[in-house]
Amino acid sequence: MSAQGQTRRLTASDIRARKGGEPIVCLTSYHAHTARIVDQYCDVILVGDSLGMVMHGLETTVPVTLDMMILQGCAVMRGSSRALVVVDLPFGSYEASKEQAFANAARVMKETGCGAVKLEGGRRMAETIRFLVERGIPVMAHVGLTPQSINVIGAFRAQGREAADWGRIEDDACAVAEAGAFSVVIEAVAEPLARKLTGQVSIPTIGIGASAACDGQVLVLEDMLGLTPRVPKFVKRYGDLGPSIERAVAAYASEVRARAFPAPEHTYPMKKS
Ligand code: KIV
Repeated sequence: MSAQGQTRRLTASDIRARKGGEPIVCLTSYHAHTARIVDQYCDVILVGDSLGMVMHGLETTVPVTLDMMILQGCAVMRGSSRALVVVDLPFGSYEASKEQAFANAARVMKETGCGAVKLEGGRRMAETIRFLVERGIPVMAHVGLTPQSINVIGAFRAQGREAADWGRIEDDACAVAEAGAFSVVIEAVAEPLARKLTGQVSIPTIGIGASAACDGQVLVLEDMLGLTPRVPKFVKRYGDLGPSIERAVAAYASEVRARAFPAPEHTYPMKKS
């Protein structure tokens, strides 16, 4: 607690220290209002580039820009006060060189006030991760299924389905941990591999479609709330918001059409003539 009695915001180091301890709870958010709710229950709020699909109806995360991430990152920072906010670096903003990655990551941190950035890639990004961390930018890595590579990998499918493919993913996870990432998202890998990776790396693993064998979990908020029409098979729906919004909109539309829209009471006092 600070002098004002406010709770201190969690840092990347706090999350790093949770390896093997209390499970890390993470959800995405892109708005101030959802961030306010998520903040009460989550250790980490991820402003994911999944916002391209969830908010903008894009097919993939590839078209998402740095400006889109910064705008929503600012909204989430305004809505939250306790969780560590991590903002995704979008496709094309960090892969060309470690200098490009630093310039864009620094811009994200200065303009949003977030506590860390996330980027996709294992061994191929290790040098960049080291460069950023040495210069004051906490990095969450992301291995396994890396959606920004969709145009190369061809489909969003589980990774490491054959034990023969495990070596590459293990190598990726170890490389980002050695490079100084404070945690690593593991996407779409089966339980035995997730368990092995979690045992192998010194930093917390945050699973998405990667079983309970990780140090924490992340889901896309709108997916678990039942707001997204198509979700990956592994997503458990904790809510039913899509149909419930539809019922509310239909009720409103029918009241307006029937001229049965309730008059506001006491809002516009009429003058007696
Ligand atoms: O963009 C995103 O929401 C993510 C999560 C799926 C991990 O990267």
